[in-house]
Order: sequence, then structure tokens, then C-alpha cells
Amino acid sequence: MRVSGEDCTRPTAQTAGGLISKKKPGLYRMQVPAPFFIQVSDTHLFEDAATKLWDVAPDLALDAMIGALAQLDGTPSFVLVTGDCSADGSEASYLRLAGKLQRLGAPAYYLPGNHDDAPRMARLLAGRTLAPGEKLTQDFDADGWRFILLDSSVPDQDWGALGKEQIAWLRDALSQRQDVPTMIIVHHNPLPVGSAWLDTMTIADADELLSVLDGAPQVRAVLYGHVHQESTEQRGDAKYMSAPSTFFQFKPKSATFGEDSLPPGARVVHLDTKDFTTAVLRFGQPLPPLK
Ligand SMILES: [Fe+2]
Repeated sequence: MRVSGEDCTRPTAQTAGGLISKKKPGLYRMQVPAPFFIQVSDTHLFEDAATKLWDVAPDLALDAMIGALAQLDGTPSFVLVTGDCSADGSEASYLRLAGKLQRLGAPAYYLPGNHDDAPRMARLLAGRTLAPGEKLTQDFDADGWRFILLDSSVPDQDWGALGKEQIAWLRDALSQRQDVPTMIIVHHNPLPVGSAWLDTMTIADADELLSVLDGAPQVRAVLYGHVHQESTEQRGDAKYMSAPSTFFQFKPKSATFGEDSLPPGARVVHLDTKDFTTAVLRFGQPLPPLK
């Protein structure tokens, strides 16, 4: 996979063969109106930083992406890491991930994906001890918005599920504070993306989730990872949007597993009083206009 840009930033890094040039990336500043936050997803770090998968070293790809994000003007309010933080659930991978993200100068919130060890991740990255079977549900406010982070991970399964308890909690949580614009964050995609192999591993109880969200007009966006590609779909008052992986991109609308040649990416979201604008920043490319 190539991770380089032929335009503004000049080719400076590529993960093909696991190589990242030591040369400093071509520098240019990118304006983002404040306040904004960043969604990073599917970092897939291994215990050993030198490990490669599909000829890509996730550590080096993440380093390159963080370098690109550091070129944004201003400091993000926070960073969301939407699952598959680790590829092997190792303690070392979680600690290294947290250390790398410190470069962005903002608090980071993590939720587990199908490759994560949720209890270990909760302990190391969220300071929480999960009881057996307990989900890592999180709820915080920032910049006048409410952010609800759901845990769709199911041990040893690639598909996801929220479970009756978490969905009941969500229904109750959304019945309160209906005047606060809200975003829902989760690892697995609640809507299919049109790739047959990926659409076998969405959220098993997505119908229950969607029924709750459809009845909560304050929910303006649902953000997720898992599908290693950018997508946007409008459903009612909410935009359902996936973010690319910082590691490896899946070919969209593909019946079987396939690699997309796009470089790593991350989502940038500007928050307005009641609305938001967003764009995906790809490594080696300028930030597209937010919309
Ligand atoms: Fe992933």
C-alpha cells in the first residue's frame, strides 16, 4: 500500500515494505475552525512495533498520520479512537498508542473493536475496571455537545453487538437532555456499506439501536470505524459516517476482501452550536473543505 502524496506535501512516507522516510514531511498549515475534534480509527497496533500485516507496519502508518494531523492549525478539543486500537490486545500496543497520541495535545477517548481486549483496554486507556460481560459505555460533554461512546465488541467475534442492557441504557440516556446536540460513537457500522464480506460483521442488534436513534432527533451524527473506508449516509436527522483506518484501507463496494490504494486517513469534525461540518484528512493530501 502506498502512503504518499504526489501533490502539496510531496511524497515523504510510504508503508509499502514497511518503510517510512525519515525525511520530515513537507510542511503546510491547514485551517480548521475552532472548536474541532479528530476521529482516528482502526490503528491496529501490535505488541511489537516492527510487526507488519499485509506488508504494512501499523506503527509507522499511525506515526505518519499523526504527523499530518499535527499540521492542522489549532488544537483539537479531543481525539476519538474508534476501535481496533490494537491488533492483538497487548498491553504494549495500548500504551504505545496512548503515547503517540499525546503529540496531538488533546485528551483521547477510546472504545473497543473486534480486535481489542476490551477489559485490558478499559483498564489501561480509560481507567476503568470492567466486570465480566460489562460494556465500556462512556458519556461526556464537550463544546456544547454530548458524546455517547458505545461498546459493540463481542469477545472472539468479528461482528458486533450492543446487548439489551446497553441499548436500554442508551434509550434512557437519550430520553434525557433532548435539547443537547448529540453524537453517537461506536466501532462497528450500524448500516451496511455494500461490501458483502464486511456486511456479515456489522452490529447484530442494529435494528434495536436504530429504533432508539430514530426516536432521538438530538442525535445529529453516528460515527464509527471497522470498515476501513470513508462513507456517509443520511438517515432521518442524523449523518452516519465511517472513518478510514490509519493502517490499511478496504476496497469499497467489494464482494470480497480487497485493498484500496487510498492513503491512511482520519476524520476532522468542526462543531457549531447545533450543527457540524466534517472532512477526512488523507495522509499526503490537503484537508478538503469541511461540509
Ligand atoms: Fe479494523
